[in-house]
Formats: sequence, C-alpha cells, structure tokens
Amino acid sequence: MAKGVALVTGGGRRIGAEITTSLIADGWYVLVHVRSSQKEASVLLESKKKPSGGAAGEVIVADLATDEGLAHLIEQTHAALKGQNADGLGVLVHNASIYKSKAYESVSLDELRLNTRIHLEVPFMLTQALVPVLKAVNGCVIGMIDTSLGRSWEGLSHYTSTKAGLRQLMMNLAGDLAPEVRVNCIAPGAIMAAPWEAEHFASVIERVPLGRGGSPQDVAKALMFLVQSEYLSGQVINVDGGWSVAP
Ligand SMILES: NC(=O)c1ccc[n+]([C@@H]2O[C@H](COP(=O)([O-])OP(=O)(O)OC[C@H]3O[C@@H](n4cnc5c(N)ncnc54)[C@H](OP(=O)(O)O)[C@@H]3O)[C@@H](O)[C@H]2O)c1
Repeated sequence: MAKGVALVTGGGRRIGAEITTSLIADGWYVLVHVRSSQKEASVLLESKKKPSGGAAGEVIVADLATDEGLAHLIEQTHAALKGQNADGLGVLVHNASIYKSKAYESVSLDELRLNTRIHLEVPFMLTQALVPVLKAVNGCVIGMIDTSLGRSWEGLSHYTSTKAGLRQLMMNLAGDLAPEVRVNCIAPGAIMAAPWEAEHFASVIERVPLGRGGSPQDVAKALMFLVQSEYLSGQVINVDGGWSVAP
C-alpha cells in the first residue's frame, strides 16, 4: 500500500528525478510529469518497481507551455488518483522550470511570457485545479524557487523575476489554503549547472561558505523534510551551502 499519491512536475531528470526517487523511497506513488524526458522517467520508474511487481508510479507527458498541455496534466492527475483509488493528492511539487541566460535588453516579450507561464501561471492554475484533492487528504504543495531573492543575477531578469512570483504565490497560498493544505518552498543554490554556465558555476562555488556545490540529494532531503513536517507552512528553505548569507 502506497503512503499516498504525489505529483512532481518536470520530475523525469536532474533534480526532479531525485525528488521522484526520494518520494518513492518514502512510500509515495509518484505521478512523474515530463515534457521530453519520457524515456528517463520510464526507466526510473521501472527501476523502482516493488518486489511484488507493483508500479512505483506513472509518467504523464505534457508540454506546459500550452493550455492543452496543462489541461491534459490536470485530467491525467485526476484519472491517476481514480486509478489508484486514492482519496486525494498528498504532495504537489512545482519543479518544472526553464533557465537560460540572456541580457535584459534583448529578452523578448515571448521569452518573458514563457518564463511567466512555466514559473507562475502553471503553478497558479495547476494548484487551483487540484485544491479539492489536496484538501481531501491534507496534502502539501512545494514550489521550487531559487536563492536570487533580493539579489541581482546577471542576465537572468526574466528567470529571477518570475521565480519571485512563484515564491510569493506559495507564501500567499500558505494562508489561502490553510488549515487543510501546507505550502512551502525549496530554494536551491548552486546545485547542477546548466550547460551554458559551467564556467560561471565554478566562480559561484568559490563564494559558497560550505565550499562546494550542492547535490540533487541535498535538495531532495530538504524537500522530504517539508513533506514530513506537519507543522511547517509558509517557509522557504535555502539549500545553498550558506551562499545566500555570504558577503
Ligand atoms: N539546478 C540548480 O542548480 C538550481 C538552482 C536553483 C534553483 N533550481 C530550481 O530547482 C528546480 C530543478 O532544477 P533543474 O536544474 O533540475 O531544472 P531544469 O532541468 O532546468 O528543469 C526541470 C524540468 O522542467 C521541465 N520543463 C521545462 N519546460 C517545460 C515545459 N514547457 N513543459 C513541461 N515541462 C517543462 C523539463 O522537463 P523535460 O526534461 O521532461 O522536458 C525539465 O526537465 C527548478 O525549478 C529550478 O528552477 C535549480
């Protein structure tokens, strides 16, 4: 018997895959949303099958840049809950994200809209659509943000400003959805470099008090702490080796 059902957006690779892995290890049946990482997610779920042969979760494919994709994810989530005879959704993780550097002067309206779409609009509408099933089992929602709050990250205005929207949405919902649903954020620091920032990443790590980049496991561990801590809501945990308080 699974502990309950969890949904992780962008859960097929990188940090999302580690979150999926940790939730499965904790006994959750995980709905792994992907856009393009279908194969990675299927291989991951196959490797986590129970000794009885029971599935550890299922993959839902949806491009969240489109309204049809979002509607499909919502519909498939409800269908999966029904298929599992689940009373509701225990965990919702807003992990899907886009991260590309571009000088502020050259960011187009379409690029800004896509960042707003993935980081703010989708978490807003997806959570709203799932409120009844979250409330039904006193579920929790976790937004994956970052440690840019109050700082200027060169070439990332479109990313940091829309992640700030997600942060504030989560804090607002911690009030709006209480007392049934808890809402928190994880703010990773320098964990996994994007291909374009490998050089920049080394210089960031030099400024991290703990002297190293974090691992996806460090992030997943903090996320599981939020899942398991029933008196925590409206909190942001920086998983950044102290980077956010470094001079
Ligand atoms: N990596 C870090 O060091 C770091 C630092 C600070 C914050 N964070 C945050 O932590 C989270 C995980 O980081 P990450 O680096 O592992 O994330 P990531 O690789 O940049 O993105 C996660 C997933 O988002 C999905 N995604 C992108 N566009 C999508 C779309 N249009 N529709 C549906 N899904 C879409 C992708 O799924 P597919 O692969 O299936 O296409 C991707 O695997 C993110 O929210 C990120 O902002 C990470």
